[in-house]
Amino acid sequence: MPSSFYVTTPIYYVNARPHLGHAYTTIAADVVNRFNKMRKAETYFLTGTDEHGDKIVDAAERENTTPRVYVDRISKLFRDLWPELGISNDDFIRTTDKKHIQIVEKILQDIYDAGDIYFSEYEGLYCFGCERFYTEKELVDGKCPDHQTAPERIRESNYFFRMSKYQDWLVEHINRYPDVIRPERYRNEVLSFLKEPLEDLCISRPKSRLKWGITLPFDNNYVTYVWFDALVNYVSALDYPDGKKFIKFWPSVQHIVAKDILKPHGIYWPTMLKAAGIEMYQHLNVHGYWNVDESKMSKSLGNVVEPLSLKNKYGLDAFRYFLMRDMVFGLDSNFSEDALVNRINSDLANDLGNLFSRVLAMVHKYFKGCVPQIDPTIDDSFSVSLEKDAAEAVTEFEICMDKFAFHRAIAAVWELISKMNKYVDITAPWELAKKKSGIRELEAVIYNLLEGLRVISGLIYPVMPDTARTMQKHLGNDPGVPFYELDYLRKWRIIRPGTVLPKTVTLFPRIDVKKEKTTDHDDDQKIQTRLKMKPEISMEEFAKVDLRVATITAAETIPRAKKLLKLEVDIGETRTIVAGISGSYSPEELIGKQVIIVANLKPAKLMGVLSNGMVLAAVDEKECTVAGMDKVVKPGTPLS
Ligand code: ME8
Ligand code: MG
Repeated sequence: MPSSFYVTTPIYYVNARPHLGHAYTTIAADVVNRFNKMRKAETYFLTGTDEHGDKIVDAAERENTTPRVYVDRISKLFRDLWPELGISNDDFIRTTDKKHIQIVEKILQDIYDAGDIYFSEYEGLYCFGCERFYTEKELVDGKCPDHQTAPERIRESNYFFRMSKYQDWLVEHINRYPDVIRPERYRNEVLSFLKEPLEDLCISRPKSRLKWGITLPFDNNYVTYVWFDALVNYVSALDYPDGKKFIKFWPSVQHIVAKDILKPHGIYWPTMLKAAGIEMYQHLNVHGYWNVDESKMSKSLGNVVEPLSLKNKYGLDAFRYFLMRDMVFGLDSNFSEDALVNRINSDLANDLGNLFSRVLAMVHKYFKGCVPQIDPTIDDSFSVSLEKDAAEAVTEFEICMDKFAFHRAIAAVWELISKMNKYVDITAPWELAKKKSGIRELEAVIYNLLEGLRVISGLIYPVMPDTARTMQKHLGNDPGVPFYELDYLRKWRIIRPGTVLPKTVTLFPRIDVKKEKTTDHDDDQKIQTRLKMKPEISMEEFAKVDLRVATITAAETIPRAKKLLKLEVDIGETRTIVAGISGSYSPEELIGKQVIIVANLKPAKLMGVLSNGMVLAAVDEKECTVAGMDKVVKPGTPLS
């Protein structure tokens, strides 16, 4: 059993908002981190953001802002999301942190001094999207497989890391420690890359092309390749080389990534570690993709699912449960809201929720809410089975969690739940309650069921910490007790007889799929959340908005404002309005058009022009369409 435990997620690029894929990896890391707390290990959990490189510069340009302002903004979206998802990270690293930059410089300098970084001219096929060179073989139909664009042939002088030198060492290491990269399919994939001769890695970019990066300590004209910078985060966060955290946690490191970044983590990072004289990582744990309609969920495809909206709609624990239970760690999984609802209804509301409320209701019905005592003279051979089932569940859970087989660890817990539901049916407490001679057996049955629930509440803690706590409270446990520790879950007869238990609660309400279509107030609210609607307003509030029909009499572009047009409109009087519709309309086609405006909006200056009202338009990712009338009406007519 490890005494220290260190888990990392990839540091996410800040070129887009966080989505379900990022949430999955980070929740998985949170789950193993909490699992290691169950083993009483001292834990350290790191996540963060990757903030250098071309992609970030492009994204900032698209928003008309500087990389600095842009990375601060998006990094904060990630940082603020994690507490909302119950993530218990100890640290959040950013590659623009000063400390990180200094440690990247140190490692570069060390490897350079050792002779493993050299300068050379190189001509190759470069994909600007990936920020890397491709070999002919790696291309698909001459195109980058990720971006579907042909790379450009460029020739430049650069610094190279002698990765080839460490190829044999890496193959040997993986063969000696076969589960260093797991599950197995990914180890095999890395070994098959390594069957071909490994090329040296270009680790610099000339500043003439890219400035947003860490300057090479030995050549001011170059910045560091993003991957060489990003991977170092895993040790810089621990204050490599002689920080206390580094000494304590590095030997137990567990990296978690998806298969998209297997190569940097399976090949670049081990060889970098070796060259820098740092001990190889303990495990690289690789999972598959969350897909939507069979294609990878990604910002470039625009099919992303927002983790927060699922949390708001279904509750945090249900959402975490679904992600961890539905994906087989290592394989791809298709995301669907129907599957999520099914899991909530069957696993959570039905199996776990019913068992819990059923047992607690019986404590209240038969024992006035007081935990019964097992009579020491009773023959309790019938209850031993439950104790054994619980012990087996704990063992299986620990084995699977240790291997990152989350879905199997959870399945082991649900097997126990199902055995307990059967135990209720077989022992039939309601029958025992009818006979006077049945009371001692009834006490034993109910007590054992409470103990089983105690074990379950501990086992679900890593995945559903809030529900675990609610269950504990209702089982009358002392809040100071670390109820989820495995040592404690391996014991039986822990709950104190005589404890008075609070009335039962519904852990997970059933989601009525059909009812969602009806229109009572609650469901309206659900639909609002789904469609991201604004909160309800009253008729009086709406009546404050002065909507008018306006005829456009003149339109012109505004210098240096790509999207804006300056309009003159007739509403019985002439108004000037600035409208952000230039991408979709030319000035000429607007003249004479009737549109709808908000006439009583507080005037505002846009690019130096005072705008006196607002044109209504439907806006989506691609274009905007102004709202108009069905027939021509007198300019200035109010809408109601
Ligand atoms: O690659 N399914 O950052 P990134 C599952 N900055 N997981 C997914 C996913 C999906 N559809 N989409 C994203 C980078 N992920 C680098 C990492 S580390 C030193 C540098 C998750 O923002 C998954 O963990 O592209 C994947 O590996 C990661 O996000 C990629 O994040
Ligand atoms: Mg990516």
